[in-house]
Amino acid sequence: MKIFTKIAESRAKIRKLKDQKRSIGLVPTMGFLHEGHFSLIKQSVKENDFTVVTVFINPLQFGEGEDFELYPTDFKKDCELLEKVGADMVFHPSIKELYLENFLTKVSVKKITEKMCGQRRPGHFDGVCAVIIKLFNIFNPDNAYFGKKDYQQLQAIKKLVIDLNYDINIVGMPIIRERDGLAMSSRNAYLKDNERDSAICLYKSFNIVGKLLSQGYRNSEDIEKGVSFFIQSFENVKIDYIAIVDKETLEEIFCIDKSFLLALAVFIGKTRLIDNKIFEV
Ligand code: PAJ
Repeated sequence: MKIFTKIAESRAKIRKLKDQKRSIGLVPTMGFLHEGHFSLIKQSVKENDFTVVTVFINPLQFGEGEDFELYPTDFKKDCELLEKVGADMVFHPSIKELYLENFLTKVSVKKITEKMCGQRRPGHFDGVCAVIIKLFNIFNPDNAYFGKKDYQQLQAIKKLVIDLNYDINIVGMPIIRERDGLAMSSRNAYLKDNERDSAICLYKSFNIVGKLLSQGYRNSEDIEKGVSFFIQSFENVKIDYIAIVDKETLEEIFCIDKSFLLALAVFIGKTRLIDNKIFEV
């Protein structure tokens, strides 16, 4: 497995592979890798001749006062583990290499990014789109892998690919969880012991939704209230949002008469965690 830090060298490598008609899988990450990331990478290794994993903490997707400076890194360990799971290439550019001095372009996926994380983190998805478009253009992959853990991100990227005519298959992968149900995340490393106990409130609230549905509740406001009440019974938590939305368009659903996505963002102490689940009705 080779580490690339320069765009030109990466392009040259990719051009050679394309000439040899080899398929390319791309897995964009911000590093500090865990089993969630590895599930995407393993799938790519299975489905492609050559897998590129990118490790880049993208400053454009962090807002003021967010955790850009604190974001955990362990590039050496990431590389050791990537080698083991069979990645062929790691792309780990500097900020300057990727964005030069003055990056002025913005691509926004409207509607899909306007609520939930998009509303709570203004500019976040424009930053994600910027880096993803760059990576698509540099690596020209056949398949690109994203986790459903970041469901809104996945939907935005799927739309971006359609709208901008990228010939890339977007593969959405299931959420990988810790044994007790907590969704794996690089940000879980921020949690102190007592916070780790509270962090389970996101996953556990899915049971509450299941119960309310089986009792016949169909008004999303009632379900959101039930979830809110449950989450607030945990220590050190602050709800950022609870959303019940259409699983494709992410538009709000008021009266539940079909399958829907429940999406949550909750601060556990200072750490903001997200999770989601699709419910079939
Ligand atoms: P990052 O948080 O590092 O996640 C990289 C990829 O791993 C994303 O597609 C994310 O959805 C997926 N992932 C994270 N945790 C997961 C889990 N528990 N189960 C399954 N998949 C999981 O998401 C980003 O980075 C960035 O926004 C990025 C797409 C790299 C753009 O900068």
